[in-house]
Amino acid sequence: MRITMIGTGYVGLVSGVCFSEFGFDVTCVDIDEGKIERLNNLEVPIFEPGLDTLIERNFAEGRLSFTTDFESAVSRSDVVFIAVGTPSRRGDGEADLTYVFEAARRIAKSMKPGTTVVIKSTVVVGTCRKVAAIIAEERPDMDFSIASNPEFLREGSAIEDFMRPDRVVAGVKDERGADVLRQLYRPLFLRETPIVTTTLENAELIKYASNAFLAMKITFINEMADLCEKVGGDVQKVASAIGLDNRIGSKFLHAGPGYGGSCFPKDTSALAATARKYEAPLRLIETTMSVNEERKRAMADRVLRALGPDPVGKTVGILGIAFKPNTDDVRDAPSLAIVPALQAAGVEVRVHDPEAREQAEPLLPGVKWCDAPYDVADGADALAVLTEWNVYRGLSPQTLADRMRGKAVIDMRNIWRPEEFNKAGLNYSGIGRAS
Ligand code: UGA
Repeated sequence: MRITMIGTGYVGLVSGVCFSEFGFDVTCVDIDEGKIERLNNLEVPIFEPGLDTLIERNFAEGRLSFTTDFESAVSRSDVVFIAVGTPSRRGDGEADLTYVFEAARRIAKSMKPGTTVVIKSTVVVGTCRKVAAIIAEERPDMDFSIASNPEFLREGSAIEDFMRPDRVVAGVKDERGADVLRQLYRPLFLRETPIVTTTLENAELIKYASNAFLAMKITFINEMADLCEKVGGDVQKVASAIGLDNRIGSKFLHAGPGYGGSCFPKDTSALAATARKYEAPLRLIETTMSVNEERKRAMADRVLRALGPDPVGKTVGILGIAFKPNTDDVRDAPSLAIVPALQAAGVEVRVHDPEAREQAEPLLPGVKWCDAPYDVADGADALAVLTEWNVYRGLSPQTLADRMRGKAVIDMRNIWRPEEFNKAGLNYSGIGRAS
């Protein structure tokens, strides 16, 4: 089976490469010539552990190729995935489907009969049917199938998530679509991964409902963390104990500075907008979104409070800018709200991140970038951990204390032991633990 993947963004690239690793012949298409040229020179445009090795191998073995030639790739394929971006539309927060519909029109023009078009982009309910309608309008006599195959890849562990998913969701309209998806994911079924074969609408809803539920779960534990601080509790103990109840589950119960990234903020907002449109408001999700926004501001206030009554001219060291570890992605990262709030209060900010500097530099004017984690502590009145990169876990409290001017340490990811920092003479505070 020959596959074309339209869009070499995060989802398209990882999925295309992983399908080639399954042994399929995959062509990844993008309109960005520079990106395709870099990929053909085996330069990987995103930071994703393990992706470079898979690209090199499958490219060398001739199963994976990159091109801007949309028409010739599509005309030779049995399956065409649409994996283009669906950004939030300004104003109403709905997903902007322009790129999806454009791709559908172009696919219609060059596809061969019998092609299955699979939507991988995260799209609001009803989109797959609209894509089918666009293709049918362009090519009224064309025989094709449509399917929805949402992805559940986490940045930083995307390859593992692709190769060992909890489930594969296959939204289909006919038996041929179901059969194509079964064939594509056969290597996983051999490992007994469940496949949920369902309608197009259900598949579209499952994707949004998953992300919205996870965002809500994180927000729940973040609010519990605030309560724990007030009443002398420890949110980590509470989270691990409630997580032992299988009905709740232990994952996504780490309290922190609020969720970020390219998915949760955008997907919650798109789902809430759809629900409002259909007059079935999702009040829990609306609240989740606003609580998460407020949380980022509250985190900046927490750092400012640690600086005392007059923060002007003081220095704060920030460890971690990416929205989570093992990625260089800073989209909707809490740091992008917290750092400017500190600067607006007259604070000098020193920052470090192992991977995100290139992405973040234009978005965070006026900060001092440090090459090594310890350097952010130099002359700092307060130090805050925003992203739980492993390299920060082993930093010596004493070395940090020696290099800092002040004593405040705000660990927004609970990666350190309070007693070790207090012993080094620092005033440690974590999230959801009485200090
Ligand atoms: C998320 C989902 O986890 C994936 O299943 C989904 O495929 C993806 O969105 C998508 O729709 O494309 P991702 O955004 O890469 O993946 O990152 P997550 O690991 O889910 O983290 C999202 C945010 O939540 C991060 O800011 C992270 O720090 C935060 N988080 C996560 C917490 O604050 N606490 C937790 O317990 C877990």
